[in-house]
Amino acid sequence: MNKNLLYVLAFFVTVLALQCTVDHLDNPLDHKLRTTLNDLSPSGSYEHFTLPESHDYSNIPQDENNPLTAVKIELGKMLFFETGLALAPLHDESLEGYSCGTCHVPEACFMPERVQGIADGGFGMGHNREKLDSYEGNEIDAQGVRPLVMLNLAYVPNTTWNGRFGAGGVNTGTEAVWEGETELNHLGYQGLETQNIEGLHLHRMVVNEDVIDTLGYRQYFDTAFPEMSKEDRYSPLGASFAISAYLRSIVTNKSPFQQWLKGNDEAMTDPEKRGALLFYGKALCYRCHKGPALNAVEFYSLGVKDLYQTGQAFATGPDDPRNLGRGDFTKDPADNHKFKVPQLYNLKDGDFYFHGSSHTDLHDVVEYFNEGVPENPNVPEEQIAPQFHPLYLSHSEMEDLTEFLKHGLYDSDLQRYVPESVLSGNCIPNNDPLSREDLGCE
Ligand code: HEC
Ligand code: HEC
Repeated sequence: MNKNLLYVLAFFVTVLALQCTVDHLDNPLDHKLRTTLNDLSPSGSYEHFTLPESHDYSNIPQDENNPLTAVKIELGKMLFFETGLALAPLHDESLEGYSCGTCHVPEACFMPERVQGIADGGFGMGHNREKLDSYEGNEIDAQGVRPLVMLNLAYVPNTTWNGRFGAGGVNTGTEAVWEGETELNHLGYQGLETQNIEGLHLHRMVVNEDVIDTLGYRQYFDTAFPEMSKEDRYSPLGASFAISAYLRSIVTNKSPFQQWLKGNDEAMTDPEKRGALLFYGKALCYRCHKGPALNAVEFYSLGVKDLYQTGQAFATGPDDPRNLGRGDFTKDPADNHKFKVPQLYNLKDGDFYFHGSSHTDLHDVVEYFNEGVPENPNVPEEQIAPQFHPLYLSHSEMEDLTEFLKHGLYDSDLQRYVPESVLSGNCIPNNDPLSREDLGCE
């Protein structure tokens, strides 16, 4: 090649490289955000907020009784969507019709696309899922709070809106109230392992040696749990361990904010960066939404409405003990109406926010925090979190904060956590006739 041309090329490459470096140094938002995060981080470094890679098992928080392995995760990934486990419905129409994924729909941020999830006794997908006529009154499987999101659960040692599952963490010292379903806490596991045993039963699914063989999962269970007794292995305990491992592997590490934390300054737009600065600054969101998952196992009342107040929910009402949040579990009135601080990734795909599905738009949620006025008259004033107060954000500040929530915290590739099929060959996540039609399984 002509030597002069080479020099000219080299010159341009150098200029371009310099230009990039200058741009990089030039954007004061990057520097400001990094300094802010360093200051707020318990470790002194913004890296504290970084989520692990999905296959970096040693850096994903887990239960020492159930170490993460690839085969457990693969098995759990199928079981979560396995409609073949739906073997204990109240009426035959729902047999093999539903799965965990019925109420935790991946495309809807693992929420149900309605104010409330319906598994046994429902038909159809998402927004169109309805109660079957053959199910009377409260027979359907539906709970008095909105389903939680299945993202970044590795950072949730105590599960559910009131944190009742899990032997350690915030439940240390609450042993006296472990009764009914929470008796399982005595097994000594974290929230996921504990709750998912109960979840299989509650959601009318069956796991035993026969079912495992019929569906073809024996080899998976054997490879995943060689040291577990056969009695535990082919039971809801083995299934719960696999599902828990899978759920811990679901990490939103491809979101722009996470890319930015790993050094790609171009990953976030300026409005998203300004939004992040508000989140970690003037809007004070970081006081409750902490760490890599922007969550906390802490309980607060924001005075939001309960599910029955939407007027669209089954099997709940003003006397539903779940309305009391943490207080329903601890029986301490000081905990009444207080709910766990949820993670904040990928909420753009959800359609309902807060434990009672009282808001349907993320900008509305930001406005709710900005106004700082409780919407639920049933919640006594003294229960409301002192951190819930007017924030005096301007219109454009609220826009920026919403941008950060909607796009900065959005991992657009969650399909990597959804199996292509399950061993039964059934349709997923639902397998009732109408869903099969909706999903193109016919
Ligand atoms: C009928 C709808 C429905 C079905 C089916 C369902 N869930 Fe849920 N899920 C919920 C609701 C509602 C909550 C919140 C419960 C609460 O706070 O008391 C929840 C919460 C959870 C949580 C707690 C997450 C956290 O952040 O604390 C986990 C884990 C979970 N579900 C796993 C499962 C698994 C595993 C299955 C299948 C065995 C399943 N779910 C099936 C409705 C459902
Ligand atoms: C006092 C602690 C606290 C502060 C401060 C706080 N949050 Fe929250 N946040 C919570 C709790 C608790 C919930 C769940 C409340 C409920 O549903 O009853 C929640 C729920 C949310 C939700 C809905 C999530 C879902 O799954 O439905 C979003 C979005 C959110 N917060 C964003 C923010 C933003 C943005 C800020 C700053 C303006 C903020 N939060 C400040 C505690 C807090």
